Amino acid sequence: MACVKAKSHGSLAKYLKFAYLKSLLYHWSPDYDFYQEKMSKIMQKFQITGDKENSKFFKDYLPKIFDRREASGIDDLINGIRGIVVQVSNGESLKYLMELYLMTPYRFWKGYISSTHKVFIMQSKPEFPVLIILEPLAVDYYDRFSAIDSLYPRAQEKANARYIGEIYHTKNARETAKILSSQEIRFQDPAEIKNAFLSNKNFIVTDLSYFTNNAVIYTNSDLLDPDSLGLGEPFTLTADELTQLNKVDEVHRKYGLDKLVFGIDHLATRVLANEREDAILEFLCMTNYYFWGAYNIEDSNSSTNICRNPNINYELHSPAKVFTANNTPFYVKTIDGLPSPTEDFVRNMGKRLHHIAYEVEDGAREDGVKNIDYVVNKLISENIPFLAQIIGECKEVISPRLREKTKN
Ligand SMILES: [Fe+2]
Repeated sequence: MACVKAKSHGSLAKYLKFAYLKSLLYHWSPDYDFYQEKMSKIMQKFQITGDKENSKFFKDYLPKIFDRREASGIDDLINGIRGIVVQVSNGESLKYLMELYLMTPYRFWKGYISSTHKVFIMQSKPEFPVLIILEPLAVDYYDRFSAIDSLYPRAQEKANARYIGEIYHTKNARETAKILSSQEIRFQDPAEIKNAFLSNKNFIVTDLSYFTNNAVIYTNSDLLDPDSLGLGEPFTLTADELTQLNKVDEVHRKYGLDKLVFGIDHLATRVLANEREDAILEFLCMTNYYFWGAYNIEDSNSSTNICRNPNINYELHSPAKVFTANNTPFYVKTIDGLPSPTEDFVRNMGKRLHHIAYEVEDGAREDGVKNIDYVVNKLISENIPFLAQIIGECKEVISPRLREKTKN
């Protein structure tokens, strides 16, 4: 897997990041024999990979959670991710759309104005999840997501610019929520949700995770028919907005990125060192995903942990969920002399999504330059800054092809 992380340019750079990558490799896991003794069907089907050791608690409860999912009907109800929800600050939706037009295949499809937000439905291919951008109508909009961001020194600068969560399609959202509620998963009361998109009757939304600050959203509605969802009054982009977006789209096509950058491969969340296993197991309780495996990233003293949808043949149909955490917490950093980039991020920005990774066509250009390097170089030429350090998720399985890109 070749992976390069990029900071999106402009005012959103610190809040919503992009990454580019291609393909994953398999490895044998030291926990493989242990897990094979367990009888969960999903664990018999998928061999766990990676070199990251997990605790006895994790090993004991992973198969129990899969068994409960299977027995309670969760596995049968939930299909996978059909929507991904991101909120931006008031007045910054056009900037973010321009970033998406330059760096990704997502394009404006439908727009609605609710009582609290402008809702931008972005689409790449119908079989990929839609990307839903929410922009608060009020400059001083504040809800429970903003409240969490306001606790962290760098997140509070733009407390409404943050990832909200994925929308999972399920055969029956109410039944899904009923089952999960009986398993101590808590849901937000629509009457108390300020965000009009999230309180929509077509969605059922969990409480923010204690471990990730992400929400999980369930629907049995068709996100490819957004007019049927009652998201608000339809709106179209202004002529000036369309002109600006078309100019960016021209650049995207001029470089041939429309033929090289595909949909979303994975969504990477950073958590605290000692909450890594809780974050994974909690997520697995709430979805139909399985634990693919985990890798140590020695030089950043962290690990990356990957969960995937078992029912798809192509990752982009329901992107992988990745959790990254330091191996040791920040407070022993000066004792061990180990780096702490992942936990530094969490302390500055809070537990949250760190980047959205897009797949790049494998292979190379006629001049021998790898496609992923070509894409990154073109984006750098358009003033997209990339992280100076490779920190985290993508490095674990791909070191031979890893490329670090930076302007400096
Ligand atoms: Fe990644």
